[in-house]
Amino acid sequence: MSNSKTTSHWGRKVALAGLAAAGAFVAARRVGAAARANAPRPIPLPRGRAVITGASAGIGEEFARQLAAAGFDLTLVARREDRLRTLADELSAAHGIRAEAWPADLADEADVAALAGALATADDLALLVNNAGFGTRGEFIEVELERTLDMIRVHVLATVTLCRAAAPGMIARGGGAIINVSSIAAFFPSAGGANYGATKAYLNAFSEALAAELRGTGVAVQALCPGFTTTEFHDVGDYQNFDRGQIPAPLWMPARDVVAESLAALGSGRVIVVPGAKYRAIVAAANSPLGNPIRQAARAVRARWRKG
Ligand SMILES: NC(=O)c1ccc[n+]([C@@H]2O[C@H](COP(=O)([O-])OP(=O)(O)OC[C@H]3O[C@@H](n4cnc5c(N)ncnc54)[C@H](OP(=O)(O)O)[C@@H]3O)[C@@H](O)[C@H]2O)c1
Repeated sequence: MSNSKTTSHWGRKVALAGLAAAGAFVAARRVGAAARANAPRPIPLPRGRAVITGASAGIGEEFARQLAAAGFDLTLVARREDRLRTLADELSAAHGIRAEAWPADLADEADVAALAGALATADDLALLVNNAGFGTRGEFIEVELERTLDMIRVHVLATVTLCRAAAPGMIARGGGAIINVSSIAAFFPSAGGANYGATKAYLNAFSEALAAELRGTGVAVQALCPGFTTTEFHDVGDYQNFDRGQIPAPLWMPARDVVAESLAALGSGRVIVVPGAKYRAIVAAANSPLGNPIRQAARAVRARWRKG
């Protein structure tokens, strides 16, 4: 039995939200096309060192590759030292830059403090990319508390500590940038991602406020909010054996494009950067007054694949 009035009201809402999404998609594509017309843009930063956390795989490794090609020296941070060393050797040989491996577990307070100390005293730090992160599967009460707390340590506490260490020197030198790698999940609090989405929402709010505080200092802050990105994220930890086919193929983005859009947006003044026209359209539609059905659909999809 269905209530035809409710059904047609719901249908109208979905149709209107679809139209809003289509309009936002066209607008976002135009913005994307304009950005591409100007590419490749030089990175508007003083030359110097880029410190990248989570550089042993995925988005962080891609930041290392693109920044090395642009001439930045690198400090590559993650737990898997062998991978960092191999990447550092490859990139320094290919681009004539200096690259070092900095093994650290960012869930470990002492490791974070040691890295923060080095950032605070570095005289060549141009860019800090807080990218290290991981996901968990299952609902809040199903995930081990220590894993949940580790996620807060890596995504939030390490990021805040490293920003606090890096920013004063950048301000004193009159330039620099901080990129905090967030997620599209920041916009869609949903069952199965209570802690993940909350840590990323923290990064968005923190980055927006920090950017406002640093306006006029020459130091830019960005919260990069990727959607599904083809990396090792869905191969490690709780996601081992995850079936990527559960996510429609057009929603997967290569890390190369995510990082290129992030770097291209530096100097634009934009703090929240959502790579990919499709994702910009989804976020714009969800934030519109007609966005409720889209938010509900996104939550339902996330809840299904996180459990699945
Ligand atoms: N892939 C996606 O669909 C997606 C979407 C939105 C946002 N993101 C975000 O993008 C960021 C990068 O993820 P990715 O997709 O590139 O995943 P990935 O390929 O699994 O890379 C994750 C990186 O984080 C490092 N890491 C994890 N835990 C760490 C710890 N305790 N200490 C130090 N380093 C640690 C890993 O290095 P070690 O294991 O060697 O320590 C690795 O280098 C994350 O913040 C993630 O939340 C990803």
